[in-house]
Amino acid sequence: AHQWRGVLEEYGDRMSLPEGTPTITLREGGTPMVDSRWLSGLLDAEVWLKVEGDNPTGSFKDRGMTVALSVAVGQGAEAVVCASTGNTSASMAAYAAKAGIKPLVLVPQGKIAAGKLAQAIVHGAQVIMVRGNFDDCLRMSRELAEHYPVALVNSVNPMRLEGQKTASFEIVDFLGDAPELHVLPVGNAGNVSAYWKGYVESEKAGASSRRPRMLGWQAAGAAPLVLGEPVAHPETVASAIRIGNPASWHLAVAARDESEGSFRAIDDDAILAAQRELAARDGVFVEPASAAGVAGLLRDHADGVSYAGRQVVVTVTGHGLKDIDTALSTFTDLVDTVVDADVDAAAAAAGLR
Ligand code: F0G
Repeated sequence: AHQWRGVLEEYGDRMSLPEGTPTITLREGGTPMVDSRWLSGLLDAEVWLKVEGDNPTGSFKDRGMTVALSVAVGQGAEAVVCASTGNTSASMAAYAAKAGIKPLVLVPQGKIAAGKLAQAIVHGAQVIMVRGNFDDCLRMSRELAEHYPVALVNSVNPMRLEGQKTASFEIVDFLGDAPELHVLPVGNAGNVSAYWKGYVESEKAGASSRRPRMLGWQAAGAAPLVLGEPVAHPETVASAIRIGNPASWHLAVAARDESEGSFRAIDDDAILAAQRELAARDGVFVEPASAAGVAGLLRDHADGVSYAGRQVVVTVTGHGLKDIDTALSTFTDLVDTVVDADVDAAAAAAGLR
């Protein structure tokens, strides 16, 4: 029977990889494009959600990690390291397990969601908690990789972007062309750079006739690309994008400028409201950071910016189950409805008649 084979086997011929690279895969990619009836109706537009939470470890990181781990193994690595706000470490740990090499993770202490930490631990990573933020962890990871026998698989490793660009290929394959607008959250800025690379390559290969404008959203307390300078103490409830000095700064700015797009900031309350509405109206549960793009669209709509008639793809980057504490914290009025084991009691409590 046919199954989706993962991004290396589906798209490896469109990546520049070292000769003889093996394939370490969990059959990532091939994620659904879900029509957002809610946003399409609200904006009078054609809005698609690229649901990256449906990847093996629940985020888009798997697309890049299959390539980074495969190349690392091909080059003889016995250990890999990354800094992470949670998802990269969860993904790296899973692919390192599949490859049979040692995963070493540096995370900001107390600042990553419980589900992501659990993933890294259960997949067998050594997790080092750093008294500092993501930017500190990334600096340390770079230095570890420089001085010790451990390969760096953060998105400064170009193989990560080779993998992540496949999301654009899938979107072009599905729509038959590139969309007009592509909306996504931005943290360390690898993903927006990878998408842009994928769209540019699609057009060059003749698979698409246009490139989208890239509309990136950062959390207001962690918006260096909007401010035009690093943020020393980034803060946001969207812990995945709590980053003050994005590694792919120059690539991301080039993507914005070449696409005539933008980077803008959205506040935490709007992010949490968008997360909740997306789950309740479209049935798609994403983590807070992943809702930043949807929150941005809603902000524009409220401000009178028209998307009427436009074709829009919104990447929702990670699964809601990774951070249920934050998701439930927005329900201030939660009360348990408890009844005896009696159908009439349940019906009465539910208001059925
Ligand atoms: N959404 C989620 C769920 C993320 O985990 C990240 C980044 C982003 C968006 C932003 O993507 O960094 O390519 O601009 N998470 C990284 C991590 C930093 O360590 O998991 P980006």
